[in-house]
Amino acid sequence: MAAELLASSESHYFDFADLDLQSVLDAIQQSAGDVRDSIALPPKLYNSERWFDFERAAIWDKEWICVGHASLIPNAGDYFSITVIDDPLLIVRGEDHKVRALSAVCQHRGHLLGDAVGNTKHLICPFHSWSYDLTGKLTSAPEMGAHIKLADLRESHSLPSLKATEWNGFLFVCFSDSPPPLSSRLVRLSEEVRNHHMDQLIATPTVDWEDQMWNWKFMHENAIEPYHTAYLHQKVHDFAPSTKVTFAEWLDDDDGAIYHPTGFNHVDGNFTPNFKCMFPVLDTLTDDERKRVMFACVMPNLFFAAVPDGVLYYLLLPKGANNFTIRVGFLYPESTLQLPTFDATFPSVVAGLELFNNQDVEANISAHTGLKSRFARRGRYAPKEETLPQLNKWLLKRYRSFALEQGLIS
Ligand code: FES
Ligand SMILES: [Fe+2]
Repeated sequence: MAAELLASSESHYFDFADLDLQSVLDAIQQSAGDVRDSIALPPKLYNSERWFDFERAAIWDKEWICVGHASLIPNAGDYFSITVIDDPLLIVRGEDHKVRALSAVCQHRGHLLGDAVGNTKHLICPFHSWSYDLTGKLTSAPEMGAHIKLADLRESHSLPSLKATEWNGFLFVCFSDSPPPLSSRLVRLSEEVRNHHMDQLIATPTVDWEDQMWNWKFMHENAIEPYHTAYLHQKVHDFAPSTKVTFAEWLDDDDGAIYHPTGFNHVDGNFTPNFKCMFPVLDTLTDDERKRVMFACVMPNLFFAAVPDGVLYYLLLPKGANNFTIRVGFLYPESTLQLPTFDATFPSVVAGLELFNNQDVEANISAHTGLKSRFARRGRYAPKEETLPQLNKWLLKRYRSFALEQGLIS
């Protein structure tokens, strides 16, 4: 117990010795084979906080986490806030134009620094006015000189920073000092969306949909399996029928390729009230790319849909096993954002998304309730759920590697 209470803020204390991990991982293996004979994950893995603690250590503390798009902070001093599980962060563009990921926790007594978005030269804590520069260095601490020199205080009380990287304009951070490579697991996906030039698109301000009361993994499943679209979204999804879905082959060494394109019945389709793009389509797309949407999960927390006139993305930000926030954003070319009609048209695009999303939310909450029942079954996957064993393979590899590293399995 003392170990748990005295754990440093840098290393969360988790003891998994009581979990029979070998049995759990063997059970997950049944969900991570060929889609023809795989079954859903054990239901408890969607609602157990204990399992979420394990996932936090095995995945969220180890992997690259997407925090937003670089165009949200184009200028020196720009920043935005984001919370990854229990860690409030500031993603900051410094005077040197480098992007840094800093803890937003004042190192004096924990007050949070910064607003949701802003531009500043100094991060000043409202509580006792300690101040930090954009690299996280402590620059002033009123009255503290009576106890300790500022230079010494700076050594131990500057803001912790995380590793940060960029893929296709998306910013990623990692809590681990030795993060796994990111781009090598996204080779095929990068190629698939190359003509969207997502690094040159500009992000609209993000919106947080708080308190989504189901499990983050189920959200990915819902977003990336096209089986439900013909039924749950019948009529509204007919322009992008599940008969026009293709799946990618699974490759262990490029295991970020959890995506599928869905073809449209007409060119330049979109998830809008009239099922068509409401903005000019990207002039870099091929004719074939104008007839499809590319859905992709960049695990563990980025989902995007690349449509002919831009990109819609979700960041999944869990608070536990049974609650997460979706941070929603769109990417468009600068020329689209400057259209005089953009502000009048954009709400219709959002309304279109909400139409689909509201149906998904109801289904996800319902399934989350069902999966708590003693009668919940590990059901067989359908042919159009081929992406689900792929998600499970991605997860299982990380669960297993962490369990091995910790000596929890042999
Ligand atoms: S908590 Fe920030 S200055 Fe005291
Ligand atoms: Fe859906």
